[in-house]
Amino acid sequence: MSEIKSMIAKQLDALLINEDNNIANMANASALLMQNIQNISWAGFYLYEEQKDELILGPFQGKVACVHIKNGNGVCGTVLKEQKVQRIKNVNNFPGHIACDSDSKSEIVIPITKNGNKFGVLDIDAPILNRFSMEDEIILKEFTKVFTNHLNIDKL
Ligand code: SME
Repeated sequence: MSEIKSMIAKQLDALLINEDNNIANMANASALLMQNIQNISWAGFYLYEEQKDELILGPFQGKVACVHIKNGNGVCGTVLKEQKVQRIKNVNNFPGHIACDSDSKSEIVIPITKNGNKFGVLDIDAPILNRFSMEDEIILKEFTKVFTNHLNIDKL
C-alpha cells in the first residue's frame, strides 16, 4: 500500500516534468490521486485569492463543490489560515466543516505555498470514517511537495 502511494509522488514528478501550465498540472494531479487512492470521493485544489482573502475552487475530480471558502472557514479555510495539515477522522466533529457532499466522512487538507507565497490547498475527501493515516499524511505531503516544485510562479 505505502509503496503504491509513494510511487504516486514519482508518477506526479514524471507527469509534470515537461509541463509548466499550472491548471493542466492541477487537473492531472487530481486525476492521479483519484485513480490511485482507494476509498476517496473527491480530490482537488482550492486556490488562494489574495484580494478577496478567500479560496476559490480549482481543478478537481469528484462531485460538484463549493466555489468560495473564506479564510478561516471550514477545514480548507482553517488550513489556509494556520498553514498546517488538517487530518480529520470525522468531519462532523470539525466545527465549521463545510459539507459540499453529504457522503464525505473524513478529510485531509494540505497547505501549498511557494517561496513564502500562499498558493492554496490540496483537499481530499473520503466516504468512510478515519480514512487517512499518518502514513497517508506523509505520502500526501510528499505529493504536494512535488507539485509545488513544478508550480510555475510566473503564471499564478
Ligand atoms: N469540506 C471542505 C470544503 C470543500 S469540499 O470538501 C470539496 C471544508 O470544510 O473546507
